[in-house]
Amino acid sequence: MNVHDSEKIRGLLSNSGYMNAMTPSDADLIVFNTCSIREKAEQKFYSQLGRIKHLKFKNKDVKIAVAGCVAQDSKDKILKRAPYVDYILGPQNINSLSDLIYEARGMAVDWDPAIAESEFLPSRDSKTRAWVSIMYGCNNFCSYCIVPYTRGREVSRPSQNILSEISQLYDSGYKEITLLGQNVNSYSSDVDFPCLLEKIDRIGVPRVRFVTSHPGDMSSGLVDAMASLKSVCEHIHLPIQSGSDRILKLMNRRYGLEDYINKVNALKNRVPDISITADVIVGFPGETEADYQLTLSMLKEIEFDGLFAFKYSRRKGTRADEFKDHIPEEIKTDRLNRLLRAQEEITHQKNVLLEGTVQEILIEGASESNPRTLQGRTRTNKIVTIENNGEQEGEFLLAEIKHARLHSLEGIRRSEKQAHQLVP
Ligand code: 5AD
Ligand code: SF4
Repeated sequence: MNVHDSEKIRGLLSNSGYMNAMTPSDADLIVFNTCSIREKAEQKFYSQLGRIKHLKFKNKDVKIAVAGCVAQDSKDKILKRAPYVDYILGPQNINSLSDLIYEARGMAVDWDPAIAESEFLPSRDSKTRAWVSIMYGCNNFCSYCIVPYTRGREVSRPSQNILSEISQLYDSGYKEITLLGQNVNSYSSDVDFPCLLEKIDRIGVPRVRFVTSHPGDMSSGLVDAMASLKSVCEHIHLPIQSGSDRILKLMNRRYGLEDYINKVNALKNRVPDISITADVIVGFPGETEADYQLTLSMLKEIEFDGLFAFKYSRRKGTRADEFKDHIPEEIKTDRLNRLLRAQEEITHQKNVLLEGTVQEILIEGASESNPRTLQGRTRTNKIVTIENNGEQEGEFLLAEIKHARLHSLEGIRRSEKQAHQLVP
């Protein structure tokens, strides 16, 4: 979401005549788009801000803007620590940047539900895969999470605006759309989320994805939509956060392990070969070794295709920050490491099951690990590397999976005919 916000910021600035600078020292305006989800992200921003301070003293005309969640949450702290910052704007105030840049200094941090009606012209990095915002903010108030305080209350974009943005992307040749929202399952305008997917499916973009789904709001309508709509990819990111009902309750997640497993089973039954990924937090206040063991056994039971795991990070203003029994850092680190090791084995085993299958992959360009090979992605969101025969980003290929690695699969090209022989 933040990366896409940066694309919107870049779009606004290029409309005002700005161009990308190659390095910070070439820039007239430096914009930090910040994240405050965990303390580490916030610290990184402060250290980077300190590192460009000298540019401002070298040239008084250089302007520095701080956007995003840290700007929203810590405006006073930023101005105190870094009085050389010129502009501060919150995540709902991206639009204000085009006015602010004509002022000497300024701040825009008021909650503005009109963001849902704003039409941005993002300057996108990719010509084939695009993010599209469908809603802003969050009403869930999970007890550990800062997002509802920084991004404000939930507001959905009108469906007509979303559909016309996607139609334009389709006309320009985009092959994959990822719908963005903190909680896409509670999208609500004239239509609900499954109905929005149905309308998007009719546009004709070959691949549609969405993040993030809250398990509490995932309806049977979404399972139906995933099972029946051709464009909707067979992957869901469904953060579980913990395997202990006691901790889930303290997290204010509104579901228990059994509800979660029932939903996952409904997806697995209706959407063959679906891949499921999740987020988990370890070391939430009061988490005992027994609670943690429930998370480990949950991982073994569900067998996620991939997992993002985090150490709990205290966020000022959230309810969990006031809880007792915060877990010492060494225990959090130990729990995280054990969890990651357990999941690595599961991820690898899931990948091995794909050896010998034929997958449709969308080429993304040269592979990150070896630029002489190409990298593509399956509909289930797994990375496949393949010999480079000069195909371009945005082309579809059929690949037979020859070898499973932990974070990617190695494939070889198959023609349509060969693929049919392999998969009757
Ligand atoms: N500490 C650690 N992880 C967090 N997340 C959100 N807030 C925190 C926090 N305070 C994680 C959740 C969420 C993901 C985007 O970030 O797992 O799903
Ligand atoms: Fe944060 Fe919970 Fe909202 Fe996700 S659903 S953004 S974790 S409050």
